Amino acid sequence: MIPFINVRAQREAYLSEFKQAEQEVLDSGYFIGGPQVHALESELAEFTGAKHAITCGSGTDALTIALTALGLEPGDEVIVPDFTFIAPAECVMRMGGVPVFADINAETLQVSTESIEARISDKTRGIIAVNLFGQCAPYAEIKNIAKSHGLWLIEDSAQAFGATQNSTPACTFGDISITSFYPAKPLGCYGDGGALFTASDELAQKIRLIANHGSQTRYIHEICGMNSRLDAIQAAVLRVKLRHFKDELKMRRENARKYNEFFNAVPGITPQEIANGNTSTYAQYTVLADDRETFIKKLDKAGIPHCIHYPMPLHEQPCFANFLPDYNIASALYGPPGIINTLPPNIADKLLENANIHADRAAEKVVSLPMCAFTDVDEIIARLKKEM
Ligand SMILES: Cc1ncc(COP(=O)(O)O)c(C=O)c1O
Repeated sequence: MIPFINVRAQREAYLSEFKQAEQEVLDSGYFIGGPQVHALESELAEFTGAKHAITCGSGTDALTIALTALGLEPGDEVIVPDFTFIAPAECVMRMGGVPVFADINAETLQVSTESIEARISDKTRGIIAVNLFGQCAPYAEIKNIAKSHGLWLIEDSAQAFGATQNSTPACTFGDISITSFYPAKPLGCYGDGGALFTASDELAQKIRLIANHGSQTRYIHEICGMNSRLDAIQAAVLRVKLRHFKDELKMRRENARKYNEFFNAVPGITPQEIANGNTSTYAQYTVLADDRETFIKKLDKAGIPHCIHYPMPLHEQPCFANFLPDYNIASALYGPPGIINTLPPNIADKLLENANIHADRAAEKVVSLPMCAFTDVDEIIARLKKEM
């Protein structure tokens, strides 16, 4: 059976290194924090070129810590892409903030800078840009927008640790950048884990304080913080994987090249476009299928696992129901059966201004295929050739 992500093959490939690293942690008596975690933080900083790399319990925690460090207050608006994993919007909402959903670019699927600008109000405090599926969002433009409107920027690089934009590594574009070490991520551990990156000494100090119960000195709590720390065993696993990571990225990119070559010749299937100047980690290898149902039937017949990242834009998620009615009304009208076309043009235009049309369309078309350094893409393409 073809696995969607072959974590077993990866474990076998570096088994003796993993066993030694894991045994050392178990024998050391340091289970949370300690030398493995400190060493990993130095290596993450060196890999990305970020001044500070601070590990924590998960990518979701990293977003919450970042929002806390940047001073998000109830009622503050934060612009997030409409088409992504829920975590950025969820974290804003849990802290009493208001996620405001921006549309995406139809080809790269990254957040649209025009849409970000259109969503800025006098309540907007910041932007969370997501490096969707492994390539960076358009940071030159996003940083300009943030600067000219006095907004902070969080770079959600949960899917893109190891990507670059014009040779600059991901995790260095935000006032705070974050990543996730969830097992399925390009650099994943054997449980939950995450990290924050910043160039600011002041923010780095705040981040450490928040993640450790608001405490620098034991049992003195300067602020109300939280418990979000990386386990030493996860750090040891990540350090082994980091040693092989550049090679794995090359293998992932070679796999993507083979997929692209094949799908570029298949009518009705369009691979996610990688923007000029970007390299991707291919956290997901995703295509847009004009007739998704038929494509999925062919994948099933060929025994190729697949996932839909993501089945709906965030504004349609039940947890945001009744939250931003404009978006929902506009999208509902836009979608089949095309009620929008029956409305007077001035009303239709006004509604469409509010609709995140490309996010809606992407959710109807996306399909992700097996992708990791150990994926046998030749075998997948051979099987597909028989069905397409
Ligand atoms: C874009 C994005 N942000 C945040 C997260 C949250 O990371 P974690 O699962 O480590 O909490 C994920 C995880 O899938 C993600 O894809």
